[in-house]
Amino acid sequence: MSEVAAHTEFELRACLWPTPWGEREALGLFPIQREAGEAQPTVVDFMSNAFLHRVRRGVGGETLIRATGIKESERANLRVIDATAGLGQDAALLAVAGFRVLMYERHPWLHALLADALKRVRDLQGDRPVALKKLEENLQLIEQPTDFLHPTDSKSLNDAGPVASADLVYLDPMFEDEALHGKADTKRDLSRLRHLLRGANDLRSGAELLAAAQARATRRVLVKRPSRAPHLVDEPRPHGQVEGKIARFDIYPGRATRLSF
Ligand SMILES: C[S@@+](CC[C@H](N)C(=O)[O-])C[C@H]1O[C@@H](n2cnc3c(N)ncnc32)[C@H](O)[C@@H]1O
Repeated sequence: MSEVAAHTEFELRACLWPTPWGEREALGLFPIQREAGEAQPTVVDFMSNAFLHRVRRGVGGETLIRATGIKESERANLRVIDATAGLGQDAALLAVAGFRVLMYERHPWLHALLADALKRVRDLQGDRPVALKKLEENLQLIEQPTDFLHPTDSKSLNDAGPVASADLVYLDPMFEDEALHGKADTKRDLSRLRHLLRGANDLRSGAELLAAAQARATRRVLVKRPSRAPHLVDEPRPHGQVEGKIARFDIYPGRATRLSF
């Protein structure tokens, strides 16, 4: 186990991580000051029983997938940019649903956790669930930590290029004052993310993100918001929204469509 990075509150280092295929080496984000119940690292994991169980029931009913407005038969060649990939859970759902997804993540540690999770999926030998085959085919991470707002600063060598456009652009930025929802593990991981990213996002970046997303989406921009949170910006207003239990997805038109929803 080697330590690969340090921070005042967290460290990023290799650990052994349980998977349905036995223990694997994984990169984990660990709190330095361990409090009761906090010993578990945050690991990006696309192979967990919880994720596989969730997608086995079908992803078509997931609020995010419904918000795309695109039928399963039409998804295969459609590209989605997840401009704020974070722990990659939403991007993974989109990829399993059949979209070709390119993830942007500007924070180097989160980028490293995502790259590590993708590598574990690729390294899996033999028979794999269909969901993991789809993930391997459809989920791509831009090669370097890349800011969606300044992609040309990146030295990324991906085929898609750092300034690619897509049918859909997905945004899930995180703001400091927003309530965290979800299961205990999810809340813990999001709370760590918020500490790691403290001060990185302000409302101005929300407006910039939406403008950049609309310029690069040909069909639609989806913005995830906590259920009762205000829209990302006052203007433009979303053209529609799809409500889930703990989050909603606001829908904005892309540059090639001015549809009414
Ligand atoms: C709430 S998390 C996203 C969670 C994600 N939807 C998931 O399912 O795990 C927000 C992420 O967006 C990233 N981010 C915010 N602004 C960004 C930008 N301009 N370019 C790239 N990443 C950005 C942050 O570093 C953070 O990791």
